[in-house]
Parts: sequence; C-alpha cells; structure tokens
Amino acid sequence: MRRIDYDKIAHLYDDPVRDHPLDEELVVFFREHPSLDPHRACVLDIGCGTGTQLAADRAVYGDMFAVGVDPSLGMLHIAHGRDPQVCWVQGGGEALPFRSRSFDYVCTQFCYHHIANKVAFIQEAFRVLTSQGRFVLWNLDPWSMDGWILYRFFPSARLLDRNDFLPTIALVDLLRTAGFATIRTEKNYLLSREDIRQFQTRAARRHHISQLMAISDEEYAQGLRQIDASIARGNPTGWTLDSETCLVRLVADKPDGHGSFP
Ligand SMILES: C[S@@+](CC[C@H](N)C(=O)[O-])C[C@H]1O[C@@H](n2cnc3c(N)ncnc32)[C@H](O)[C@@H]1O
Repeated sequence: MRRIDYDKIAHLYDDPVRDHPLDEELVVFFREHPSLDPHRACVLDIGCGTGTQLAADRAVYGDMFAVGVDPSLGMLHIAHGRDPQVCWVQGGGEALPFRSRSFDYVCTQFCYHHIANKVAFIQEAFRVLTSQGRFVLWNLDPWSMDGWILYRFFPSARLLDRNDFLPTIALVDLLRTAGFATIRTEKNYLLSREDIRQFQTRAARRHHISQLMAISDEEYAQGLRQIDASIARGNPTGWTLDSETCLVRLVADKPDGHGSFP
C-alpha cells in the first residue's frame, strides 16, 4: 500500500518551506569533475515531486539535460508547469524507466521512505549512473530524532517512520553492496524550542506534514486532542516544548570501470 497518495494532495503540496535552492552537491560534483561540461551533463531527480530541485538547478545550469521521475502524475503536472524544458517522466524508483549508464548525477530528496523495495531502489540508482557518476540522497533521519514534537503528540508516526526509513548504517550497507564507493554521510541536527500553539496551527494543516498524512484519521484526531489538552492545561514556560529533528545526506560515487563520461 502507498504511504501517501500524492495525486490527491499535489495541488496543495507547493509551499515556500518546501522550495529547494540550487543543489550545492551538484556544484561540488561539477567542480570535482572538470572534464564534464555542466551544460552537457545528464541529471536525474528520483521522486522529483513538483520539480523545485531541478528548476533551481536549471536556473544556473540551463543547458544540462534534466530528468525528473515520479509515480504521481499530479505532481509531475505541476512540475511541468514549473519548467517545461525538463523531461518529466512517470515511474518509480524501484524500476527506473531508463537505460543503464544514462546519468552523470542522480539525486533524491525526501522520497526513499515511500519506496517499499529499498534494495531495488539503490541498485537502480547505481545502474543508471555513468562510471564516476554520483548519487546524492537527502532525507529526515527518524532514527536520530526521538525528541521531535510531532512524535510526542502523534506516536504512531514515529513507528511508521521507523518502518519506512532505514538507519543510516543500513543505507550505507545497501549502497556498498550495490557497488558504490567513497560513501560519505552527514547529519544535521536541529534542536529548538517549539511554541505548542504554533505547532497546533501547523498540525492542523495536515497535508503539509507527510507523517500526518501517513497515519490513520483516528490517530491524527487523537493527536490533535492531545495538543488541545496540553494547551488547555497551560504551561508555565510559555507553551514552549523542546523539539529535535535530524537531516541526513548521503553522497556515493560509482567507481571507475562501468562506462565513463562521454
Ligand atoms: C515528500 S515528496 C518529495 C518531493 C520532492 N523530492 C521534494 O523534495 O519536494 C515525495 C515524493 O516521492 C514520490 N514517490 C512516492 N513513491 C515513489 C516511488 N516508488 N518512487 C519514486 N518516487 C516516489 C511521491 O509521488 C512524491 O512526489
């Protein structure tokens, strides 16, 4: 079963907080591979959604060949409106509809937890990369953020996330087994004090937080009641609660000897 039906919420998805800036890892990749002309490079975004990443990248590297793949036609429709020059393709990360060694750089943001077959997903990313190509994955790391305010009020979301996301070490194992070399990981922790009334406003916009879309209606309603009760009880510290989130980035290179840059 799909975690979320993105066709249903595609028209609600775009929001300034979800915009992507230019992919800094793509800039690094081009700098490290001077023989590859950025304007002739082939770049793939898996689970591209409404296309904000590739649109931001193309604002700088306008001539690169950019492809976004996503199973949701609703999301792709919005992506096409954003940048009709990108090749938007319907498909899933576990069976990419592309020939082997087609892309110099493959990225994926906030997506792999929707893909049931993680082994196939990583193998596919490896397959479609050229030799010396790079794979970059960004996502939350639910295994490193037990103190997230959202998990406090919606505990079923934490269980679901632990089912759908892998611990970083397991992801690294999958990458290594698929054949990737020089795998780097980076975690960014954010500790904050959250005003529970502001959190209540955010939680009420259910479609803006994928964890809230993934849990059942009853679990969602129960969490909202818990927030109401917490506010009603009052809080001597001004209704603020500690919260933590963690973002993980993995960067992995396909070694030489698998077909090289054109
Ligand atoms: C949270 S959105 C992220 C979209 C975009 N990457 C971004 O950062 O804004 C997750 C995306 O993953 C897509 N998705 C779901 N299942 C997928 C699969 N099996 N393969 C690839 N993408 C998938 C969804 O359709 C949705 O567009």
